[in-house]
Amino acid sequence: MLIFFWIVLKKQSLTIKQLRMQQFISAHDVPDINQLIQKALEYKANPSKDQYIGKGKRLGLIFLNPSLRTRISTQIGAENLGLSSMVFNVGSEGWQWEFEDGVVMNGQTVEHIKDAAPVLGQYFDVLAFRTFPTLTDKVKDYGEHALHQLIKYSGLPVISLESATLHPLQSLADLITISETQSSQKKPKIVLTWAPHIKPIPQCVANSFAQWINAWGKAEFIITHPEGYELYEQFSNGARIEYNQDKALEGADYVYVKNWSAYKDYGKVLCSDASWMLNKNKWGITNRAKIMHCLPVRRNVELSDEMLDFEYCLATEQAGNRVWAAQAVISEILKTISSK
Ligand code: CP
Repeated sequence: MLIFFWIVLKKQSLTIKQLRMQQFISAHDVPDINQLIQKALEYKANPSKDQYIGKGKRLGLIFLNPSLRTRISTQIGAENLGLSSMVFNVGSEGWQWEFEDGVVMNGQTVEHIKDAAPVLGQYFDVLAFRTFPTLTDKVKDYGEHALHQLIKYSGLPVISLESATLHPLQSLADLITISETQSSQKKPKIVLTWAPHIKPIPQCVANSFAQWINAWGKAEFIITHPEGYELYEQFSNGARIEYNQDKALEGADYVYVKNWSAYKDYGKVLCSDASWMLNKNKWGITNRAKIMHCLPVRRNVELSDEMLDFEYCLATEQAGNRVWAAQAVISEILKTISSK
C-alpha cells in the first residue's frame, strides 16, 4: 500500500515538474500560453506585485548581436521582480566566442563556449541569450547550434532573447497585445504579411509569430508572401498560405508586417517588389485592422510612414508589452528554480 502511494506521489511530482517552465526558447516550453498571457497582464496592472521573488538572484543577459527593446525590457522585467541583471556584449566588450568543436583556434575567436558558458554558470542563476543566424548555414541555424551549446555548457535555465530561428519573447508580447486589443469575442483574422527589405533578414520573428499563433489556436491565421518565401513548415503548419496579398488582407483584424529572407533558397532576397509594402489603400481591404511590427523598422522600405504613424499601428504598444512578457517568463523560471 505504501509503495502504491509513493508511486502516485512520484508521478504527481513528475507531472508538476513537466508543467514547470525549464527554459524559454520556443512556444513548446510554455505549459499554458493563456495562463502566461494572463500573468503578463497582471504584471502590467501591478508591476511590483512580486517585487521580492528574485531577491538574491542574478540574471545574465548575453548578447552576440545588437538590441534596444529586448535588452531594456528584459532588464526592467527582472528589476520588477527584485533580480539583479547584467548585460554582456560578447565580441564588442569581451572575447570573441568559438562554437565549433575541435577547431584550432588560431583565427579571430579567443574563447570557446565550452570554457565561457560554465564560468557564466558560476556567476548567474539564469541566463538570457541573443544570437542571430548566419543565413548561410541552414543546418547550423535551424539546429540552433549556438543556443544549445550555451544551454549544455552553462547548466542554467536559458531564456532566448532571439535565436537563429525564433524570437519567443517578441511573440509572447505580440499575443499579449492582441489579447488586450481584441474588440470582440470572435476568433480574430490575423494576417502575417511579408514586406520588402534591402538586405537578407532572419526568419525568426515570422517563424516565431507563426509558431505562437498556431499553438495559441484562437485565430484564423493566414500567411501571405511572394512565392519562394515559404517558412519552414514546422512553424507555419496550421496557417493558410495565400500568395495574393490583397486576397489575404480581406477582412483582416490584425496585420503583422515583417520582412524575412527565403528559407528554401536559404538567406536569399528573391523579391524587392515595393507593391508588397502596406499602405492605406491596402488597409482599406481589411476590417480596420490593427497593424503590428516588432521594430526596428526601415521606414518607407518595409512599412510606410503613413502606416507607422497611423492610429491603428500597435508597434509601440507591442514594444511596451515586452516588459510584461519578460517579467512573466522570468517569474516562471524563478518558480522552477526555487522548486529544485
Ligand atoms: N523587436 C526586438 O527584438 O527589438 P530589439 O532588436 O531592439 O531588441
